[in-house]
Amino acid sequence: MRAVAFKEVGGPEVLRLVELAEPEPGPGEVLVRVAYAGVNYGEVQHRLGDFGAPDGETVTGLEVSGTVVALGAGVTAPAVGAEVAAYLPDRGGYAEYVSAPASFVFPLGDLGLDLRTAGAAPLVLTTAYGVLAGAGRIAAGDTVLVHAAAGGVGSAAAQLARSLGAAAVYGTVSTGEKAEYARRFGYDEVFLRDGFADAVREATAGRGVDLVLDPVGGATRLESFEALAPFGRVVVYGEAGGHPDLSLPVLPVWKNNRVLAGYNIGDLSRRDPEALRRHTLAALGRVASGAVRIDITAEYDLADAAEAQRLLEAGRNIGKAVLRVRG
Ligand SMILES: NC(=O)c1ccc[n+]([C@@H]2O[C@H](COP(=O)([O-])OP(=O)(O)OC[C@H]3O[C@@H](n4cnc5c(N)ncnc54)[C@H](OP(=O)(O)O)[C@@H]3O)[C@@H](O)[C@H]2O)c1
Repeated sequence: MRAVAFKEVGGPEVLRLVELAEPEPGPGEVLVRVAYAGVNYGEVQHRLGDFGAPDGETVTGLEVSGTVVALGAGVTAPAVGAEVAAYLPDRGGYAEYVSAPASFVFPLGDLGLDLRTAGAAPLVLTTAYGVLAGAGRIAAGDTVLVHAAAGGVGSAAAQLARSLGAAAVYGTVSTGEKAEYARRFGYDEVFLRDGFADAVREATAGRGVDLVLDPVGGATRLESFEALAPFGRVVVYGEAGGHPDLSLPVLPVWKNNRVLAGYNIGDLSRRDPEALRRHTLAALGRVASGAVRIDITAEYDLADAAEAQRLLEAGRNIGKAVLRVRG
């Protein structure tokens, strides 16, 4: 089968189109013939070696859509031939075939999702939902601040927050163009990241927000506490800024009954796969109902995966990019 793989960590140029043996579905797995693969920042980090060095030809890719072609031992559903979306905790999505744990394979059947949208959904939607409802414990009436507001997870999170009852949703981005783009996802206001805490306090009459979604880190993380209301939560779920681990003063957390929480989908997939599944289904349901829209802004051939990652790595992306693997 055709796949895009890397053998050494490095820039986008280490990604090469190669021929690899088709995987076999192991016990509890489903073999999917891939139609579309979502492109995610976590895949850039994988290629850069943030999660360790590759062991031979390594295929990244955390989410796909496609058609079920075989079932591993012990699996009875979804049926062979069913169109599905799949989250891939062990990666492998930049390929014509991939095996996925059956519990993370979701039939598109009643959802009315097309394969292109479904390929861009399982990772970003599940993460956005998990950060809000799981780690972030969002409650109706909460105010929410989303960093990297125009990106894949960010644009989904804004809409999901609203559908979970948020009273107001604010975003931060790095450029005016991104702010303009992000406004289509229902943000009350989108701020440039420079000096955002002042802008948030002003927008909330000095109170701050109840929940901050932070995949950026560094100074943004620190400043988030200045934009946080008492009893508020900051959920850390990424480090796109690539800052070294930063020390956070504890007093602003302790003195105001605040919470610093973490979210990691890979860890959740191992420790609580049922919760992950619930989050995915709840989020996919909102796409099916029209409450949440995934905006695919760029589509590349599988062979051009390096190009897609280049855009993301430079922080120039908006919305969501997909790889067309078959279709
Ligand atoms: N913990 C988990 O389980 C989990 C799962 C999925 C994703 N994530 C994280 O969620 C975040 C969003 O993922 P995504 O795939 O949807 O990506 P994305 O938001 O579409 O793209 C990443 C965004 O990060 C921002 N950014 C800030 N500093 C950056 C830098 N130095 N270089 C590049 N980008 C920078 C940029 O937005 P601005 O221009 O607005 O700054 C950029 O658009 C990532 O940090 C990812 O690692 C975590």
